[in-house]
Amino acid sequence: MKIKTADFVISNSKVDKCPDSKLPEYAFIGRSNVGKSSLINMLTGRKTLAKTSAKPGKTQLINHFLINNNWHLVDLPGYGYAKVSKSTKRTFQKFITAYFEKRKQLICAFVLIDSRHKPQKIDMEFMQWMGEHEIPFCIIFTKADKLKPKALEQNINNYQQEMLEYWAEMPEFFISSANTGMGQEEILDYIDNINES
Ligand code: GTP
Ligand code: MG
Repeated sequence: MKIKTADFVISNSKVDKCPDSKLPEYAFIGRSNVGKSSLINMLTGRKTLAKTSAKPGKTQLINHFLINNNWHLVDLPGYGYAKVSKSTKRTFQKFITAYFEKRKQLICAFVLIDSRHKPQKIDMEFMQWMGEHEIPFCIIFTKADKLKPKALEQNINNYQQEMLEYWAEMPEFFISSANTGMGQEEILDYIDNINES
């Protein structure tokens, strides 16, 4: 898929205030700092569309972007960032889960996992929660440029093994780098295929 237009629409803290639209929607979720906003910029080829930061906790709202005037891409705050206050953290969790529970337009969520790390409990629990709520999701392993190809392969193999302890099969997954553009075509084609079907 070629991105012809990518426009910011609105930021919200309440799912009820998100765009009242029938367009298909794809959301990016994962731990704070995993690279959600950077990936959105890489996918759309717009360096500053979504706000990024080296400090975790940058994205604090539900951000809608309109792509090619025919689907929405959504940047969400991260989960599991210990340094925000307990009450802020709870608000994140509440509106993140509310978003997934209520947003009927959501076609698929992309759960981002840092390819450098061993499986983390919080990600496993989040995917479990998605499964229990029957919310379709894929995995994207991020920051692939930070590992040598062998180590990357090893980590992803390990991750699959761990997933298969809980899941009958490995969800669809992609490998990405916001720095090199790795994964761009595959992820956009995946979305395109669903939108066309
Ligand atoms: P929150 O909004 O705080 O939840 O974070 P986020 O998941 O949106 O992460 P963000 O895109 O802001 O990126 C966090 C940091 O990781 C930034 O310093 C990015 O430059 C860096 N980063 C993101 N993706 C990549 C990548 O693919 N490769 C490398 N090397 N760095 C990355
Ligand atoms: Mg962000």
